[in-house]
Amino acid sequence: MHYFQYQAGELYCEEVPLARIAQEVGTPVYVYSERTLERHVRVFDEALQSVPHLICYAVKANSNINILRRFVAWGTGFDIVSGGELFRVLRAGGSAEKVIFAGVGKTSDEIRYALDTNILFFNVESSAELELIHSIARDGGKKARISIRANPDVDPRTHPYISTGMQKHKFGVSLPEARALYRNTRGLSNVEVVGVQCHLGSQITEMGPFEEALASLRQFILELKSDDVALKYLDFGGGLGISYSTEEPPSPAVYGETVARATKDLGLTIVLEPGRVIAGNAGILLARVLLKKNQGTKKFLIVDSGMNDLIRPALYGSHHQLWPVREQAGKQLETVDVVGPVCESADFIAKDREVALLEPGELLAIMSAGAYGFSLSSNYNSRPRVAEVLVTGKTYQVIRRRETYEDLVRLEESQN
Ligand SMILES: Cc1ncc(COP(=O)(O)O)c(C=O)c1O
Repeated sequence: MHYFQYQAGELYCEEVPLARIAQEVGTPVYVYSERTLERHVRVFDEALQSVPHLICYAVKANSNINILRRFVAWGTGFDIVSGGELFRVLRAGGSAEKVIFAGVGKTSDEIRYALDTNILFFNVESSAELELIHSIARDGGKKARISIRANPDVDPRTHPYISTGMQKHKFGVSLPEARALYRNTRGLSNVEVVGVQCHLGSQITEMGPFEEALASLRQFILELKSDDVALKYLDFGGGLGISYSTEEPPSPAVYGETVARATKDLGLTIVLEPGRVIAGNAGILLARVLLKKNQGTKKFLIVDSGMNDLIRPALYGSHHQLWPVREQAGKQLETVDVVGPVCESADFIAKDREVALLEPGELLAIMSAGAYGFSLSSNYNSRPRVAEVLVTGKTYQVIRRRETYEDLVRLEESQN
């Protein structure tokens, strides 16, 4: 569900025509709908209504500080994976008491920063990390709240690059190892065990893997109980998928009900870390057609946004729907590769895609680009990173200005 729709043949974000944003801010530009973001947060929250819960938005999905400010206002917590993300959350006015910190390679400085700001808990991903957190907490005269990231070894049936919960992955520890780690924490006076965490992967489009993981976590939590390990939180991670093309992922309501049903009697607060499902369909990348080019039998539509702006198609072969900003009803379709200006053959938005015949100068909305879009973008080919715009009803605000050529060299020149 999102608020990008055609009105009288023109594509709008909420009540703002995208053509107006393109004209005033330029292209390429990420455009986000505040109403969509808020709706997704509320729907998730409602889905978990029957159990005590905390929604910790996964900052990595879209980290713009102005968007984080909205999440703070809507009462969410935050799932972070770096000191930089913690800094953003705090700068946005977020409270560290609602922050949880994951990641397999937290540095000592990041751990100290998180302890100093008193985050809710660390999701610990190895025994070496547990010891590191303990020693830093002890040296600082603090107590670190922790949960252990336990892998139920469930196949999330998603793209291998975004699968995380199996034995072969670098994330978390196996259930037997997790059980041993919980026992070991008894000797660690500067660590307080508060929870257990699990994150299977991202863009999961069926309930099966979630159900399997919930069943094993339940069993695991009961075993911990018999070991006298008392928990307050079950953090079930993120991962719920969205519809990029024909996928039909479970709704947040179905997902939430399943999680609540499976965990209700455990007496724990349920923490969830959704990212994609909140931000994905709330944003698009607006691009302009530069040129058309035919090469043998192949037709290319060259647009002004490249893989540095949106790397998902190059990285995962992912599908983004392409909507012309001026509705092309009845217009002839042609099969093209939609490509950007970057000097890599991996620089494509879509391959062999049937699209309405667009002319240079026309605008194209690359849909479902709100999560892992801008946050994965780079300056490759010395392309300034694009602007970001947040639409609220009839108005919009530039929430990140387009970078300039000066921005490209600023940090390099200041070293001398
Ligand atoms: C630990 C953790 N939590 C939450 C998320 C968010 O996942 P998603 O955006 O699929 O909800 C991720 C994504 O990689 C993650 O690694």
